[in-house]
Amino acid sequence: MSSFIALEGPDGSGKSTQAKLLAEEVGARGYDVLLTREPGGSPIGDQIRQILFTLNNKSMHPKTEFLLFSASRAQHVYEVIRPYLDKGGVVISDRYFHSSLAYQGYGHDLDLDTLKQITSFATSDLLPDLILLLDLPVEEGLNRRKSEGKWNRLDDYQLEFHQKVRQGYHAMVDEDPDRWAIVDASQPVERIQMEIRKVVFRHLASVQTLP
Ligand SMILES: Nc1ncnc2c1ncn2[C@@H]1O[C@H](COP(=O)(O)OP(=O)(O)O)[C@@H](O)[C@H]1O
Ligand SMILES: [Mg+2]
Repeated sequence: MSSFIALEGPDGSGKSTQAKLLAEEVGARGYDVLLTREPGGSPIGDQIRQILFTLNNKSMHPKTEFLLFSASRAQHVYEVIRPYLDKGGVVISDRYFHSSLAYQGYGHDLDLDTLKQITSFATSDLLPDLILLLDLPVEEGLNRRKSEGKWNRLDDYQLEFHQKVRQGYHAMVDEDPDRWAIVDASQPVERIQMEIRKVVFRHLASVQTLP
C-alpha cells in the first residue's frame, strides 16, 4: 500500500534537510520513494514557485498567494503525487496544503473555511497519511535562514505573523492529532532524524509490507 508523508513547519526548521535524509533511508529499506516539495514539485509548479518567491512581488495579496500555492498544488497532485501513490509508492513532500492554511489562513487571517474548500477542490481531498511538524521557536528558524543568506519575500513579514503561523500549526495538530507527529526541531539534525524515522517506519509498518 502507498503512503503520503508531508513535512511541515516554519522556514528554517529543517524540513528540506530532514526530508532528504528520510527519503534516503526509506529508499534504502526497499520502498519506492519520491521526494518532492511545495510550492513546485512539477515543471508548471516550479514556474509558479518563481513568482511566489521573487522579492519584487512585495505587493502580492495573500489571496493571490493562496491561489498560486493552490494552483501549484493541483498540478503537483495530478501530475506527480497521485500517480506515484497509485503505483504503490511512498511520497515524501516538503510542505503541502497545511502550509497554506498556516500562512495564509492563520497568519494572514483569510477565512479558513473558504481556504479549506479551495484546497479540497485543488487536491480532490488528497490528505497526507502522516504529517511531521518540525516545531521551532520562531526566532530560531528565522536566524537559521538569515545566517545562510536564504531570505525571500515570505520571510519579510513581522515576527508576530510567524508566531501566528506556529500557533496555526498547533491548532491543526489539535484538530487531527492522529495524523500528526510533532518533532522538536531545535535538536541536532541526527537526533531529529532518529525521531522522524521512528515515527515514519512505525507508520509504514502499519500500512504496508515491504515489496
Ligand atoms: N537541527 C538543526 N540544527 C541547526 N541547524 C539546522 C538544523 N537543521 C537544519 N539546519 C540548518 O538550518 C538551515 C535551514 O534548514 P532547511 O533544512 O533548509 O530548513 P527548511 O527547509 O525547513 O527551511 C540550513 O542552513 C540548515 O543547514
Ligand atoms: Mg526548505
